[in-house]
Amino acid sequence: MNTNIKSLWQTYEAYFPIGTAVNATTIHTHKDLLVKHFNSLTAENEMKFGEVHPAENSYYFEKADSIAEFALKNNMKLRGHTLLWHGQTSDWVFKNGNGTKVSREVLLKRLEDHINTVVGRYKDRIYCWDVVNEAIEDKSSHFFRQTEWLDILGEDFIEKAFQLAHKADPKAMLFYNDYNACYPEKRDKIYQLVRNLKEREIPIHGIGLQGHFNIYTPTLEEIKQAIDKYASLGIKLQITELDVSVYEFEDHRSLKMPTHEMIDKQADFYGKFFELLKEYKEVINGVTFWGPSDDVTWLNDFPVYNRQNWPLLFDNQHQPKEAYWRIVQ
Ligand code: GLA
Repeated sequence: MNTNIKSLWQTYEAYFPIGTAVNATTIHTHKDLLVKHFNSLTAENEMKFGEVHPAENSYYFEKADSIAEFALKNNMKLRGHTLLWHGQTSDWVFKNGNGTKVSREVLLKRLEDHINTVVGRYKDRIYCWDVVNEAIEDKSSHFFRQTEWLDILGEDFIEKAFQLAHKADPKAMLFYNDYNACYPEKRDKIYQLVRNLKEREIPIHGIGLQGHFNIYTPTLEEIKQAIDKYASLGIKLQITELDVSVYEFEDHRSLKMPTHEMIDKQADFYGKFFELLKEYKEVINGVTFWGPSDDVTWLNDFPVYNRQNWPLLFDNQHQPKEAYWRIVQ
């Protein structure tokens, strides 16, 4: 690792914490990079329902704890991710012993046990939680994504989750987190959801814009409009899962190297995006990358399996890329 370069988190200290997703392996393999450049961590998978609560009466915290300890030891903030999501949630949650669908009462009780146990465990460590992840439908066909949570609990499942999380840790900041949050159609639905929760005094304190972008979309203008609209609700915003793919979503080519154009466009995007974020430092209180460096990004397997992508600020050897220089200058 290049140790003489400027630290990211120190560069942005006057604006917002700079975070990254980590896992129980990268806290070892990427330790130097993490300690130097990041002052906030999110567990990439280790705190999700399916990971910590694989069966009704069994919780598994070894990996999540190792991340929490690493954050504490290195003086980093810790975000909690995530309490209620359609993904990575084990089947048992929605089923009775005989395989039939559970009642609303049973599912609410399970959600409550889960939230009390997980939020309670990290009460003194985690300062904010992504309480509900990705509950809004992308397409115009529905308002909510059609999930088992919605099906069994009904439309108040979101407020229930926020109320339970608030009860479990009244000090934690509670976020609604989603992707494509800057495209007008989904943006307006997220806005409507959060406005409605706020109006009814449900404890929600922020919106997480995941920020799985690519070098072509969304535009800076779309991002700015989304920030303005959400900020008008009087809540905080965080970029929670930032990466900037060099491929458009439909582009399934596998290049050996990114083209010069890709590298320039990516650096340009990151540079302008961070300029914009700085302008909104009163409302943005965290920016988290979804991984420390290109060797460990989930985009190396999505949407094309086993294809190298280069979405982050540090390369496979943990060296700074053009995009890094653009945002520290
Ligand atoms: C979503 C989830 C994250 C992660 C990414 C892909 O954005 O919120 O937890 O699973 O997908 O890695």
